[in-house]
Amino acid sequence: MFVVVAVTGGIAAYKTVHLVRDLVRAGHEVHVVPTADALRFVGLPTWEALSRNPVTTSVHDDVARVRHVSLGQQADLVIVAPATANTIAKMAAGIADDLLGTTLLATTAPVVIAPAMHTEMWRHPATTANMATLRSRGVIVVGPDDGLLTGGDSGPGRMSEPADILRTALGVVSAPDLAGLRVLVSAGGTREPLDPVRFIGNRSSGRQGIALALAAADRGAEVDLVAAHVEAAVLAAASHPRIHISHVGTTAELQDAVVAAASVADVVVMAAAVSDYRVSEVADTKLTKEGGDGTLTLRLVENPDVLAGLARSRRPGQTIVGFAAETASGDELRERGRRKRERKGADLLVVNRVGWSEGFESEENSALLLTEHTDTETEASGTKREVADAVWDAVLGLR
Ligand code: CTP
Repeated sequence: MFVVVAVTGGIAAYKTVHLVRDLVRAGHEVHVVPTADALRFVGLPTWEALSRNPVTTSVHDDVARVRHVSLGQQADLVIVAPATANTIAKMAAGIADDLLGTTLLATTAPVVIAPAMHTEMWRHPATTANMATLRSRGVIVVGPDDGLLTGGDSGPGRMSEPADILRTALGVVSAPDLAGLRVLVSAGGTREPLDPVRFIGNRSSGRQGIALALAAADRGAEVDLVAAHVEAAVLAAASHPRIHISHVGTTAELQDAVVAAASVADVVVMAAAVSDYRVSEVADTKLTKEGGDGTLTLRLVENPDVLAGLARSRRPGQTIVGFAAETASGDELRERGRRKRERKGADLLVVNRVGWSEGFESEENSALLLTEHTDTETEASGTKREVADAVWDAVLGLR
């Protein structure tokens, strides 16, 4: 395979050295295209020696072979690692003022980028908007990971490890194994209003559901994503040409949206945290303490079990996946999971352990994947993307 590795000016360029080495070792034809700034971090001889190909930053070298577009035209895969905030902005705008820019404009190959920058830059609205633009064009994003950054600060912004970038990149060019499937993913958490300003909700951030939707889209599926109060920054990651988003608030709204989408879905994944109860009478005006006796009694009524309903009325051949967040551990967690999978009629139940400080907000997850075949129980842990890929692998195993 002809792989272009674009390297931009960030300290994480030293990790890209390993990426290039591993690609060459795996037998690929690798061409490194650094920016001028990238060469201040890792020098040109290193890239040439490792890739065994000439390296330049300029569109004016090797003009006879129309190098400014030929690398992009020949590429089967382009990886940008690290992708700095500056390069991401230039990619979004289509700026081509160096060999990297012209190569990216000239290619029709899949483009995988591994962002690396400080947390503030990653969270800046400009970067968020640029990332949404790139994702909507089908650019595949790996990371960034959450952890220690170069200035001693910590947060999302670390470039993903070369092995993770390689796995995603090679997965993208291998046959997309979910192509032809239409999948429905619910994500986030429903909220039940008490009055116009208050609600009963839960701590789900929607990260695992969004990771599931993105993994499915990256692997070729058409995805209907039903999002219930997913944090804006998390939802921004779900902009992808094959992801179609609808927004819901309450369990009743979520039920309407998923029942409609399930009628055409091959796979349904209920990752949303659904509120089990709603207030029997929602107040039209804001509840007030005035004239009260120091207590408030709310009457709650049970919501329908959306997952169980979907499983009961499934289309022929449809695969149904449920999630369960449990505070139990060990065998009790497993047993609760088994009972829940059976009770709900799901083909696969993904069981997470949660607690006051576990399971929410984090970029990592670990889960138990239960099917009716007790011998095929698997554990998946790692980033939420890795857990998502493990869930889709298990779905494929069931189909
Ligand atoms: N779920 C649903 N409708 C509900 C409640 C839950 O579809 N009213 C789905 C969730 O999306 C999830 C799965 O069911 O996929 C398990 O959710 P969980 O809250 O663990 O299940 P409960 O039925 O509420 O079980 P428990 O008695 O443990 O609260």
